Amino acid sequence: MAKPRILVAQAIFPETVERLAQHFEVQANQDDVRWSPAELARQLADKDGALTTGAQRIDAALLAACPRLRVVANMAVGYNNFDVAAMTAAGVQGTNTPDVLTDTTADFGFALLMAAARRITEGERYLRAGQWKDWRYDLLAGSEVHGSTLGIIGMGRIGQGIARRAAHGFGMEVLYHNRTRLPPALEAECKARHVGKDVLLANADHVVLVLPYTPDNHHTIGAQELARMKPTATLVNIARGGIVDEAALAAALREGRLAAAGLDVFEGEPAVHPDLLTLPNVVLTPHIASATVATRRAMANLAADNLIAFFDGRGPLTPVNQ
Ligand code: DGY
Repeated sequence: MAKPRILVAQAIFPETVERLAQHFEVQANQDDVRWSPAELARQLADKDGALTTGAQRIDAALLAACPRLRVVANMAVGYNNFDVAAMTAAGVQGTNTPDVLTDTTADFGFALLMAAARRITEGERYLRAGQWKDWRYDLLAGSEVHGSTLGIIGMGRIGQGIARRAAHGFGMEVLYHNRTRLPPALEAECKARHVGKDVLLANADHVVLVLPYTPDNHHTIGAQELARMKPTATLVNIARGGIVDEAALAAALREGRLAAAGLDVFEGEPAVHPDLLTLPNVVLTPHIASATVATRRAMANLAADNLIAFFDGRGPLTPVNQ
């Protein structure tokens, strides 16, 4: 029987491609070139399955051009690049990579919070530019992290990981906002209190965004929400860029209505809003919250495992549509 044909749509570990090749006929884009939607459709037209990252949009137009396609394994926990309803209607299974990146991503959320609140990258730029002349009482003085109040918007696995770090490691009071409230035992373990979004924004010294991106929460943090936050506060986004109105955020940072921000994700990434690039009080990183070698390997392996299990008839391990 002919092996299923799989497209690896963006570069991944060569050993993952080799592993897939033991099960499938594999075509892999191992170049550092992101395919246009038209090129992706052309490459996928004769494939039975695909391994994608968050950079490939799987929607009705693409599915119409790919009649053989049966499964798409995303190497990411977020799958806002999938039109899940269109995939379900077309009989295409989607999968993601939850759990394997939870702690690594929570670590990074905390790192961005520390870097922004304590002005770490600003200090490094200052030192490298030869501006450091002497110790000064107010040199790059930032905001306190330990013992402060953290607001977490989106309390899935990664949000819970950040809450544990904050409460247990840094003695922070943790407020969270989520569509559904956590069971009491989990709330107690995370030492986190469920509050409305406005209460969270008004009371938090630092706010971390960890919610999945959907059309409903586009620009969930805009001018109004930023105006509710303390002017001394820090905003961290490790979720998806579209959740924050970047122009409104840049204005708040520029005008001193918000002290600092740490952003790992951007609405038009890899492009970054030009206003953000001019500001000293925002830490900018290129979507690397899950980027440790071990975690990226685990994500690639889980995406491959999903394809193997699907075509073995065992069913996907971590489906996003049923
Ligand atoms: C995810 O897994 O969703 C991360 O953003 C990595 O792309």
